[in-house]
Amino acid sequence: MYGHTVKIVLLWSLIPTFSNAAKLSSSSQLTEKCLLQPGQIQKTFAMVFMYNPKTSYSTKLYLYLVTCDKAARVTVTASQPSFNKTIQVDKDSSSRVTLDYPFMITESSITSKVVVISSNVAISVYAFYDGSNTADATACLPQEDLGQEYYISTPSLSSSASKEFSIANGFESIAHVNVTVSATITYGGVSYSKGKVLSLSLKQREVIQFQSSYDLTGTKISSSAPVAVFTGHSNNPGYNWKPTMEQLHPVKNWGTFFAVFPFLAHTSDIINIMASSNDTIVNVTSSSGTSTHNLQEGSHVQVTVNSIKLVNSTQPIMVSYLTNYAYTSSLRYYYEPFLTTVPPSLLGRQYYRFVTRSSHDNFLLIVSNTSSVSGFFIDGTPLSSYSTTKKEFNGFRGWEVKLGKTEGKHEIYHETSTFTFYAFGTGTYTSYGYSVGQFPNPEECSIRCLPHMAEYILPKSLLSEAHLDVLNVHLKDPQCKAVKEKDKYLIKIPFNRCGSSVLTEDGTTFYANTIYGTIPNTDVHRIEIPVRCEMHGNKSVELLINPKVNNVICKGYYNVSMQLYQSDSFTEPLTLYPRELDLHSSLHVEFKVVSEEKGLQILTETLTASPAPENTTRKYTVIQNGCRQDSTLQVHQVDDPRLQRFTFHLFKFDQSQDIYLAANVVICHNATSPNRCTKGCISPRLRRDVQASMEQLDTNTLSLGPFGYSSNKKNRLA
Ligand SMILES: *[C@@H]1O[C@H](CO)[C@@H](O)[C@H](O)[C@H]1NC(C)=O
Ligand SMILES: *[C@@H]1O[C@H](CO)[C@@H](O)[C@H](O)[C@H]1NC(C)=O
Ligand SMILES: *[C@@H]1O[C@H](CO)[C@@H](O)[C@H](O)[C@H]1NC(C)=O
Ligand SMILES: *[C@@H]1O[C@H](CO)[C@@H](O)[C@H](O)[C@H]1NC(C)=O
Ligand SMILES: *[C@@H]1O[C@H](CO)[C@@H](O)[C@H](O)[C@H]1NC(C)=O
Ligand SMILES: *[C@@H]1O[C@H](CO)[C@@H](O)[C@H](O)[C@H]1NC(C)=O
Ligand SMILES: *[C@@H]1O[C@H](CO)[C@@H](O)[C@H](O)[C@H]1NC(C)=O
Ligand SMILES: *[C@@H]1O[C@H](CO)[C@@H](O)[C@H](O)[C@H]1NC(C)=O
Ligand SMILES: *[C@@H]1O[C@H](CO)[C@@H](O)[C@H](O)[C@H]1NC(C)=O
Ligand SMILES: *[C@@H]1O[C@H](CO)[C@@H](O)[C@H](O)[C@H]1NC(C)=O
Repeated sequence: MYGHTVKIVLLWSLIPTFSNAAKLSSSSQLTEKCLLQPGQIQKTFAMVFMYNPKTSYSTKLYLYLVTCDKAARVTVTASQPSFNKTIQVDKDSSSRVTLDYPFMITESSITSKVVVISSNVAISVYAFYDGSNTADATACLPQEDLGQEYYISTPSLSSSASKEFSIANGFESIAHVNVTVSATITYGGVSYSKGKVLSLSLKQREVIQFQSSYDLTGTKISSSAPVAVFTGHSNNPGYNWKPTMEQLHPVKNWGTFFAVFPFLAHTSDIINIMASSNDTIVNVTSSSGTSTHNLQEGSHVQVTVNSIKLVNSTQPIMVSYLTNYAYTSSLRYYYEPFLTTVPPSLLGRQYYRFVTRSSHDNFLLIVSNTSSVSGFFIDGTPLSSYSTTKKEFNGFRGWEVKLGKTEGKHEIYHETSTFTFYAFGTGTYTSYGYSVGQFPNPEECSIRCLPHMAEYILPKSLLSEAHLDVLNVHLKDPQCKAVKEKDKYLIKIPFNRCGSSVLTEDGTTFYANTIYGTIPNTDVHRIEIPVRCEMHGNKSVELLINPKVNNVICKGYYNVSMQLYQSDSFTEPLTLYPRELDLHSSLHVEFKVVSEEKGLQILTETLTASPAPENTTRKYTVIQNGCRQDSTLQVHQVDDPRLQRFTFHLFKFDQSQDIYLAANVVICHNATSPNRCTKGCISPRLRRDVQASMEQLDTNTLSLGPFGYSSNKKNRLA
């Protein structure tokens, strides 16, 4: 008796004959230099000049306006005091605008001190404190990166430090704001204790600044319209009080993976890890092991960055970094803390422009997963010609680059990889630092392509901006309407009705329909979204293009199954494995595309067997090009074009107990007939011509095996 361990495995891999790979890469390779997407992006910014009791009145706020490959006309305006300045900035250069003490928010009530920067082309904006014993800097977020929900993080090395945050409405006619405080704040003569909600409304260009000696970390801001939020504090671990500042990223742009590198040789810097969802599990991994934290909405954990830390979480988190004061033995001075945000790693871009100050010894810390320094260029010079220090942990690398006392704009790029970086500088008793590379998360493809239908989640803003109700949204067939399910608006798009069509373009087949939002009792549409599903056999849904452009294409999948049956009646599937099969019997195999869509067709193009899953040198071909190769092969007639059934005599390879079956199946739609599936067997000579003209949705490779054999009849399969 043979006691083989027989396992039957289904392996899947996709062989897209008409691949969309070319389309995908061209949409992700953003062509513009500085890697800005086209459209109204990175042209308008809102900034404020925060006050801290430790800020000297001689402190100024410098705004650096940095251009790319186009000259810019930039207008900087403020209404209190009135300021209106238009500057021409040449391409590949930068200009500085100075805001003096009158723009500083010294009031504890709402003021109109928002400074708005608007440019005719995409620019980058960096803000620096400049004053005796004062530094720190932030990258300014463009309008489109602002959000409606924020959490304050004021990591602090001194409990007596003075903390502040500001909420600024740069662009909206009104923003109704709720502030849920995490520590006592006094506003308008009223004291709000932990957990209390303070509500206020900000008109366009208005800003409110709050101050407290308590740690404000965890204070939640929710606003009816996008606002800009800034935070800062003074810290006193060294010799002096030094204000820090940072513009915060809204919750919608938080990330789940962060490679945190200590700056220079620091060992006592801290990070605050902030959660916005309940049951956020955070892992902090370093060479000394992993610690796990379970965070609730608005709670945080503080971690000392005594070595490289990799931070993973199950829900988006925000990581804020505060350096400790330190001494540099090479430069021989003490410098005070700076505050910055850790950008989520593995995102970022390949190209940036940034600014340094000649008042400081400037450095870069580049964070990437690329294995070599060779692809990086700073100001056109390979990074290898700079003085760099490499730090590395678990495949993530930080390159610290010494730039010296340089002033103004620089550029950095990598030939192939995206990265994030920090620019920072140290000086006698001061330092500054900011991070670059945190961008809005790519919007999740809100269409889901299922095997027989698609579901599109309507962004709420789409309906509210169009002043339409969910019932005013429908498909080409107006009877097929959107519905509200839980807190989501969605529209279901069956592929075989509601005006859906099957169409072919560049050799790829799509299901297509259009979502309309129509003013009631008219034929006027305020919403029109063409949606397409590009179907791939058994492949998960992927983002193809960004739905922002209002033309939604998603990849869907067909489930294709390969199933063995006990007899040629194909009624009892072999479900339990391992199995031993009698060599002197037949195999009954069914291939099926699982879909309610009756118009689908399947063709088994090749079916081969081999003694090992990946060794193709020994192979026996049962079906090739849709043609019978094994003389015992029977093709069963079936009515349903979505399935094919075969029976053939079992065989085995000499010296081997196992066989693996592998198949290539092609899925077609009858709307594209004649196609590869209707052609059936094609002799190799003709194959090339047919391939050029055939319309197939996809091919899949399936494999099954191994089977073991039994020569003992008692042991054989029914
Ligand atoms: C700034 O000046 C320009 C030109 O004089 C004017 O068009 C614009 O409205 C002004 N903006 C503000 C905010 O005052
Ligand atoms: C602010 O709180 C009020 C009262 O709970 C609520 O009605 C309103 O929707 C909240 N606004 C925002 C923007 O969260
Ligand atoms: C988080 O949990 C708290 C306490 O159970 C609850 O009040 C709050 O609504 C939860 N927040 C979210 C976003 O689910
Ligand atoms: C954290 O995420 C990174 C990148 O996805 C991954 O390589 C690493 O294994 C994860 N670490 C832990 C502890 O989960
Ligand atoms: C955290 O670590 C645990 C155990 O190492 C692991 O099972 C879990 O998947 C990790 N979670 C994240 C979010 O990385
Ligand atoms: C770096 O990360 C990107 C994005 O996750 C990935 O595509 C690439 O293969 C990684 N490179 C290395 C060398 O790990
Ligand atoms: C692909 O098919 C296999 C076998 O039926 C299944 O286990 C797997 O979950 C499928 N994958 C997707 C993305 O549907
Ligand atoms: C396709 O396979 C996926 C993953 O196994 C499953 O969730 C889904 O229900 C299947 N769809 C159909 C129509 O069988
Ligand atoms: C495609 O198949 C469906 C379902 O069998 C049928 O109703 C339809 O008429 C067929 N279309 C074509 C063009 O053959
Ligand atoms: C593939 O099969 C050949 C012939 O049986 C054998 O010599 C070779 O070692 C096999 N290779 C692998 C990777 O199994």
